[in-house]
Amino acid sequence: MRFLCPTCREPLNKLPSNRVACADHGEFGSVEENGLVVFDGCFDEHSFFDTQAMERLDRYYAHVGPEEFEDILARKELWEMDIGNKWVGITEKYWWEKYTGRIRGRRVLEIGCGVNYITSYLLRSGNDVLSFDICKASIDYQSKLLEQTGVARDRLTVAVANAEQVELPGEFDYVDINNVLHHIYDKRAALERAFRALKPGGQVLIVEPNYFYPLRWIIETDLFDPFNFLKCYFVRNSLMEKDEKAIVFSELRVLLQEVGFEIEVDEKDRNFFGSFVLRLLRDGTWMARLVFWLDQKVFGRVIPRYFAPFEYIVARRSA
Ligand SMILES: C[S@@+](CC[C@H](N)C(=O)[O-])C[C@H]1O[C@@H](n2cnc3c(N)ncnc32)[C@H](O)[C@@H]1O
Ligand SMILES: [Zn+2]
Repeated sequence: MRFLCPTCREPLNKLPSNRVACADHGEFGSVEENGLVVFDGCFDEHSFFDTQAMERLDRYYAHVGPEEFEDILARKELWEMDIGNKWVGITEKYWWEKYTGRIRGRRVLEIGCGVNYITSYLLRSGNDVLSFDICKASIDYQSKLLEQTGVARDRLTVAVANAEQVELPGEFDYVDINNVLHHIYDKRAALERAFRALKPGGQVLIVEPNYFYPLRWIIETDLFDPFNFLKCYFVRNSLMEKDEKAIVFSELRVLLQEVGFEIEVDEKDRNFFGSFVLRLLRDGTWMARLVFWLDQKVFGRVIPRYFAPFEYIVARRSA
């Protein structure tokens, strides 16, 4: 088993009862019949993420077969991107490749994988991937999607685990945290574990929404409670978690450094309007292209980074 005891970092073992345990520190989870490790205390169903994954993503992925999935993976520009990705809001697909090149033949840890194309993309690039998420419904759906889209799973390990608690050996070349940190209460605990899971020289890839992006701030700020009707609407319709707050990047940078990371890349996302309005436009239309073009050429250059919708960070565990 690749998981370590959260207390002593010795390898966990599977008991005859199918429980996962450390001889000195007790039991931490179970192994299901299909080999899936489910750590205790993770969400099972009816959580916010369950609703998100099942109701929304199912609409996009229910009828996707291998060919359609190929098409989804190939769409990179925001104006033509797959709807699932646009809804999550990451506006530069495979953004890390600008800095790392295409990642091939490496060991990659995907924290909070949810239901996404990233695990598939990494697998198809010949990487060994360990993906985990706190929501079991997402992990089950992700597994079903991999099968449905014909992605080989022999180099994949999946688990239901909490990023604040899971301990892994320092064997990964990359740790990917895609739009997850802002859902994690104890960010320091998650980043410390990500740091320990990396080989010396390994890199963490982070993209997160910015709290000060005006369209986010307005629905997340507590300033107008209880009269923030927009916020109430978003929470009521499971479009955001209650008390969800995007990342304050000045704080995240400090935290990364305190944990021991060396920040190598810290870039804003330029798609000020695109990341918001493209959900409302059809793919590939001239309107969609125009918004994308204006963001790249005009708004993205003049609007201060402080208000950017997302930021991208690459940080290294140098020792
Ligand atoms: C906005 S989704 C992003 C999912 C995926 N990374 C993507 O880009 O589509 C946030 C994900 O983080 C997961 N998550 C939230 N808290 C977590 C935690 N403490 N440990 C592991 N995963 C967590 C949720 O279940 C959800 O799948
Ligand atoms: Zn132990």
